[in-house]
Amino acid sequence: MKKVSVLINAKDTIGKINSEIYGHFSEHLGRCIYDGIFVGEDSDIPNIKGIRKDIIEAFRNIKLPVLRWPGGCFAEDYHWKDGIGPKTQRKKIVNTNWGGVVEDNSFGTHEFMELCSLVGCKPYINLNLGAGTVVEMAEWIEYITSDADSPMANLRRKNGQDEPWKLEYIGIGNENWGCGGNMRPEYYADLYRQYQTFCKNYSGNKLYKIACGPNSSDYNWMEVMMKRLDPNVVNGIDLHYYTMPYFPNKDSATKFDDKQYYDTIEAAYFADELITKHTEIMNRYDPENKIGLIIGEWGCWHEVEPGTNPAFLYQQNTMRNALVAAIELNIFNNHSKRVVMANLAQTVNVLQSIILTEGERLVKTPTYHVFDLYKEHQDATAVYCFVEDVRAGLDKPVKMISGSASVKDGAMTITLSNCSLTEDAEIECDISYFNFKNASAKILTNDARAYNDFDTPDRVNIRDYHINKAGDNLSFILPPCSVISIQLN
Ligand code: AHR
Repeated sequence: MKKVSVLINAKDTIGKINSEIYGHFSEHLGRCIYDGIFVGEDSDIPNIKGIRKDIIEAFRNIKLPVLRWPGGCFAEDYHWKDGIGPKTQRKKIVNTNWGGVVEDNSFGTHEFMELCSLVGCKPYINLNLGAGTVVEMAEWIEYITSDADSPMANLRRKNGQDEPWKLEYIGIGNENWGCGGNMRPEYYADLYRQYQTFCKNYSGNKLYKIACGPNSSDYNWMEVMMKRLDPNVVNGIDLHYYTMPYFPNKDSATKFDDKQYYDTIEAAYFADELITKHTEIMNRYDPENKIGLIIGEWGCWHEVEPGTNPAFLYQQNTMRNALVAAIELNIFNNHSKRVVMANLAQTVNVLQSIILTEGERLVKTPTYHVFDLYKEHQDATAVYCFVEDVRAGLDKPVKMISGSASVKDGAMTITLSNCSLTEDAEIECDISYFNFKNASAKILTNDARAYNDFDTPDRVNIRDYHINKAGDNLSFILPPCSVISIQLN
């Protein structure tokens, strides 16, 4: 048992936690869209216009705020006109990025917008800069957002959608340092400037333009973006960081030893250093915080499950992944002055999914439950949360407890995680400048290797948890491998 003190000062605010920090990502990859979110209208699985009802409900339950689509690398090969009009006439293409499977384009712009509307989330469309033309990009924006009597708006009407949709978030390219064209940052920045010029604001719609950001610790990429782009042409920069301590090698999602566990936790904590250093670069060029930092892809990348298609990136999801999610989301909350959005990769059946499906069966992963525990942070004000640096682990001990806190509508949410595999933490939490009468908590805790599968979908689940309150102090035991969410009001 280790004693850990936590100090929260509600007067000391960090910034607004944009709900978009709790965003997600869905690519045409493996079974994320097809045989995942989208089963088609003729499926026996209950659906609305081909979209699984149980997935819509699960997304709504965690207040999923924004969804990025159609990729990823797929976005840089995607030609949006292939995915509109009568389905029988849509072009079949080969998904060259992800296994060479046939993409029949039955899920396109209309289906994605329908999904967002059913979930009640904002769409974030990643446009094709790598292999698409300026005209193609400009026309897609016109098709989606224009109310004019113009060629693309009329094409949308012909395809059954009279009213334009609202579209705020657009990504202008994806990983252009890699699958999006293997470009130098200087070259990409110039192309970005050109392409974004033709992404117009139609009919009262206001675009939020996102440039491809660095691969992890490529600080030079960030430096070049900030030097060559300014708030007149860019609103956000999209950093990608996967938790992969043995890159390019990967470990199993479920069969890992204690060292691999702690190495993964250490890699999750690295996001703090990464965001701090990228923020320092952004602060030099943009001290007024006009350009947001977006973590457009994050999460654990493990080996695929045995017997599954290696190109489909299907992996199980344990309490280890829940701890990673809890640590990362606390980091994002604590950096919410600069971090305005984050998108976990990926929602369903791919990488660190929140949902796994098999036929009509559906499993909510431990990572899903972390998003459920953290949902009250959305649109709240992050406040200062000091967590004593007590260590856990083996040869390179890591910070045992991660935490963040926020205030919204007179209530405070505190989220903490204990990554130790063996030790309880005896938490003493002092709250300053916040009046509250009631304290309640919910916890997610289990063995680090525990996961939910189709036969035992609730092995890892949230339950109520008792904490002691004495005046402005809270005290409780945080068990090994756990994530807690506390509500004060
Ligand atoms: O999320 C899987 C892939 O990882 C994405 O397509 C790409 O952007 C990243 O490299």
